[in-house]
Amino acid sequence: MKKILVINGPNLNMLGIREPDLYGKKDYPALCEYISECAVKMGVQVEIYQSNSEGDIVNAIQTAYNTKDGIVINPAAYTHTSVAILDAVKAVGIPTVEVHLTDVSQREEFRKISYVGTACVATFKGLGFEGYKKAMETLVKEDM
Ligand code: DQA
Repeated sequence: MKKILVINGPNLNMLGIREPDLYGKKDYPALCEYISECAVKMGVQVEIYQSNSEGDIVNAIQTAYNTKDGIVINPAAYTHTSVAILDAVKAVGIPTVEVHLTDVSQREEFRKISYVGTACVATFKGLGFEGYKKAMETLVKEDM
């Protein structure tokens, strides 16, 4: 059974409260439940991690080395700023898929840049929760 680590970055724990017109009214536990249900249906083992801290996200990526087969990451605001998260993904060499709830290519200019995306096998954006499902499906198909 493939083991996938799902990482969610800053402010995603505020789903449901945070800018609901953009991010929807469903809360973070609902997202986790959705991811877990998808994992059961796909027959993969999933661990879900959320942090508001860049260093903790780097640590989470490092712990995936030799323990996980794939990473799904929504680095949230760190997408657009973090070379450290990009380097961590490159360091572990684990197939990684980037997810964004919103379509970051249709928002502010600064959201069009994704550092981590340059090291990812795929990116799903603007699909809401479904992006996580597509990301996990991509990793299941990935030869790893
Ligand atoms: C986000 C998009 C980012 O630009 C933003 O900073 C987030 C969430 C998304 O899921 O759409 O926090 O990653």
